[in-house]
Amino acid sequence: MPPPPPQDRQEMRRYWDEKISWWADSSYEEHPRGPVDRLMAHLRRSVHARAVIALEMLRPHLAGKTVVDVGCGNGHFLHCCLEAGAAHAVGIDISPAAIEEARSLAKRHGTADRSEWHVGRAGDGTLPPGDFVTGFGLVDWLEKDECMQFFKALHGRHFVFSFSEMDGSFDEWVHYFYLIKRLEWFGNGVRAYHHPRRTILRRLQRASIDDVQVVARREMRFGRLVHNLHTLSR
Ligand SMILES: C[S@@+](CC[C@H](N)C(=O)[O-])C[C@H]1O[C@@H](n2cnc3c(N)ncnc32)[C@H](O)[C@@H]1O
Repeated sequence: MPPPPPQDRQEMRRYWDEKISWWADSSYEEHPRGPVDRLMAHLRRSVHARAVIALEMLRPHLAGKTVVDVGCGNGHFLHCCLEAGAAHAVGIDISPAAIEEARSLAKRHGTADRSEWHVGRAGDGTLPPGDFVTGFGLVDWLEKDECMQFFKALHGRHFVFSFSEMDGSFDEWVHYFYLIKRLEWFGNGVRAYHHPRRTILRRLQRASIDDVQVVARREMRFGRLVHNLHTLSR
């Protein structure tokens, strides 16, 4: 049995139900619609960058494959994977509003027949079948035990996911106070977490995953990608 939810998931659901559309627009919209959008678009350039870099890492392997994206939001990354040649996409998110938006985007992109979208929770110890598992901006929202369950479910799979590194930069401090501290103080039961690189690597090891690489690129600022795609040809 997976451990009981460590925090009020209804709260987390509500939080993302309210936020996902605006969050995704300010992260991925090419043309921000107002000053707030423009500011958020600036701050979230790294979010866009991590999706682009992860897609380039996966692109050579995508033809005919299935990608499972956990915490898929509006499905932006999976829509890109399908355009890049993936045969099938499975999106999972705790927020029904995110899943609804992902579904309607799939209809608009003409990829509804090659994709499925489910409300679900990372950290319940299960993952649907697929060739690749991805998760961007996800582990920030997972409490320790959920994070561990997610990593255990990654065992034996090929994956790439993101985490945030405390690099002492200004942007990272803004992120730390805006996300982690603000929610700790005023989050009404919703919390975000900082899992440092050494914790991520130690937990992956405890999940019997020790052959991984960490990607740090300037465009991602304090964002990092951890993956085991280099083991694909073995
Ligand atoms: C920062 S957004 C990232 C969305 C998407 N991965 C992207 O990069 O565009 C985090 C997403 O994780 C989802 N999420 C948070 N906690 C989750 C959980 N325990 N299980 C599944 N999804 C979760 C949220 O609903 C939200 O859509």
